[in-house]
Amino acid sequence: MVSSIVKMKEVSESLRKQNLTIGFVPTMGCLHEGHLKLIKRSLESCDQTVVSIFVNPTQFGPNEDLDSYPRQLESDIERLEATGVDILFHPSKEEMYPAGYKTYVQVQNISEHLCGKSRAGFFKGVTTVVLKLFNIVGPHNAFFGEKDWQQLAVIEALVEDLNLDVAIIRVPLVRESDGLAMSSRNRYLSSQERKTALSLSHSLQEAQNNIRRGTTSAKAISNSIRQYFLGKEGCEIDYISICDPESFKEKEQIRGRTLIALAVKVGPSRLIDNCIIEEF
Ligand code: PAJ
Repeated sequence: MVSSIVKMKEVSESLRKQNLTIGFVPTMGCLHEGHLKLIKRSLESCDQTVVSIFVNPTQFGPNEDLDSYPRQLESDIERLEATGVDILFHPSKEEMYPAGYKTYVQVQNISEHLCGKSRAGFFKGVTTVVLKLFNIVGPHNAFFGEKDWQQLAVIEALVEDLNLDVAIIRVPLVRESDGLAMSSRNRYLSSQERKTALSLSHSLQEAQNNIRRGTTSAKAISNSIRQYFLGKEGCEIDYISICDPESFKEKEQIRGRTLIALAVKVGPSRLIDNCIIEEF
């Protein structure tokens, strides 16, 4: 495990001198099969794989779950060793944001929709930490999951706009066998809340069926999704978005490639899920 930025930079420089390709999977830990899918893709395609575990304080709002975000470093380390990961980068908060820290990067426009609207400052924190991690780890390839569709688009824009020399590899969303999108935050759910949480994937499945049967009105689809949550205790819809998957502009009619994205608070957890309607 590497905790110091100086050491991580030395390791990365030495790997690059040996002409080894570096794959990088940034995470906030509490690893599950979704993270492992990203890691496996890196192990398959790169000479060396670096995974970071850092619960990034700058992407949590003042009323969010930074303090209670699940942390389980020991079992994460065991998992990473068993999977064959070469290097774990686990810096402290002070190492990443020393006293007097003052620089942030922000991707405009696409960061302002969906999660950016309801979590002020979230993407600014994500892009800042991801840029810092790229500078420290120096990866050739970096792997991100489509579970966080908008985060991926924001990071692609960061890389393109700031001319970063890293290839962003997209990895499809990984689900539990009953359809629930895997998430570190699923651990907070009671068994009743977990049942309610299934409404996210079920409502998306139903939306896809309705669209296949000919519904094109975004309002009708969004209402049918909303129905799934009516009368369910302890759950609150943050947003239902039916939009362009690149610009995140809302659509009235489902024509062309479309993203349906949901954020719903279920008990203590804010959960997200999405699906893509391919052009038909
Ligand atoms: P975290 O939520 O730990 O996720 C780390 C990576 O795993 C992200 O790229 C995320 O999209 C991916 N991931 C999580 N659940 C997934 C699933 N069910 N299927 C596929 N991929 C999944 O996202 C973050 O951390 C942070 O914002 C981070 C990028 C590390 C910056 O702090």
